[in-house]
Amino acid sequence: MSVGIERIHAYAPQYALPLPALAAARGVAPEKLTQGLGVQAMAVPPPCEDVVTLAATAGARCLRAAGVDPREIGLLVVATETGVDHSKPVGIFVHELVGVGPRCRVYEVKHACYGGTAALMTAADWVRANRTRPRRALVVAADIARYALGSPGEPTQGAGAVAMLVGPEPRALFLSEESGVHATNVYDFWRPLDRREALVDGKYSIDCYLDALTGAFKSYRDLERPALADGEGLVDRLARVLYHTPFPKMAAKAHRRLLEIDRGEIGDDDFAASYRDLVAPGLAGVAQIGNTYTASLYVCLAALLEDEGRALAGRRIGLFSYGSGCCAEFFTGVIPAGAAGLGSMGVRDVLAKRTLIDVPTYEGLLHTAEQGGAPPPGFGGEFVFHGIRDDRRIYGRAGEALAA
Ligand code: HMG
Repeated sequence: MSVGIERIHAYAPQYALPLPALAAARGVAPEKLTQGLGVQAMAVPPPCEDVVTLAATAGARCLRAAGVDPREIGLLVVATETGVDHSKPVGIFVHELVGVGPRCRVYEVKHACYGGTAALMTAADWVRANRTRPRRALVVAADIARYALGSPGEPTQGAGAVAMLVGPEPRALFLSEESGVHATNVYDFWRPLDRREALVDGKYSIDCYLDALTGAFKSYRDLERPALADGEGLVDRLARVLYHTPFPKMAAKAHRRLLEIDRGEIGDDDFAASYRDLVAPGLAGVAQIGNTYTASLYVCLAALLEDEGRALAGRRIGLFSYGSGCCAEFFTGVIPAGAAGLGSMGVRDVLAKRTLIDVPTYEGLLHTAEQGGAPPPGFGGEFVFHGIRDDRRIYGRAGEALAA
């Protein structure tokens, strides 16, 4: 049975802080952030938006765009590392807001940024496992990336969600059944239970990412080797390669490593050409939205399909997912002809409607983050976090008054 992504939809908060403004406020050269890291802007949520409302907005829009009745969904998995409760999963709030029925299994998964891929692979296996009765899953990856103010990680923040309808009629991406995995226990990035901001050993985290890419890609290539001609590289068979992208320069570092593993030594000109053709086209969204942790790789996928779905019909692409701690997976997928007709996948829409903010506004939003409240003018989401009452989180639909 072919299984894959039937529909994908991305959503990010309306506010965006341009990185040159952050650079000026922190006393660093703007080129360090815009070229050295490759980030142009980062999404910042208003107080009425948290990980639940991000996920629910992406999920509801994904199902609506697919024309699928939410009650058809048999499995809902929400991947996040921005949990709102030690026990109650983000998924159950999304379950209610999106309107999937009571017979839909629901849970939350966590493994840093790898969680989105863990959820996608689990959902694809769940669809494959029942060959007699076609069934569909909704996977949502959503996060708000937060580091300490003024820290080296601060320019790599962001927020957003991507929802994927997974089923037997993939119109967005056929998923390969084979994948290469690499997992090992490392302390590169973590967030102790009492902290809102992540702790990170930044330079070490880059090494961990690249080591995990090496392991996962070699493992995938070993599986594919019988199909390769003598001396043929695996990358030669891929039309594009998408990476988990905490900042776009990371994708460049990753691609150089990938080419080195696949082809041996690689000259600067060959690397630049390969990066330009295979990687850069997928980075337009993440460069403007920032790191969305679990959703990052899938923001790249949504942006690529939106921009190039037609041109890439029938072509295979590579995807690399990395989650600190760490687990990584390299897999591939084929873009079906139907992807050309899917229309908006959210990324362009988010970028067209966002409001640029200055640094004092951004810092003010950090102080009021997740306090709840009314949606601000220009609010782009469908659901609102009203706040906490009697230790319970209250959500509603944007535009509907909160019951007394
Ligand atoms: P830093 O120490 O501020 O930056 O932190 P730097 O000094 O390494 O400079 C960055 C780049 O800018 C360098 O380029 C400089 O040369 C360049 P590179 O050598 O790397 O190619 N540069 C300039 N370029 C142009 N003009 C200039 C200029 N000055 C310098 N004037 C760091 C960088 C990434 C460490 C920091 O931002 C950080 O800690 N970020 C968070 C951690 C992270 O994103 N790690 C990535 C891998 S781990 C991962 O992806 C998992 C994660 O998503 C979490 C999860 O799994 O849940 C994070």
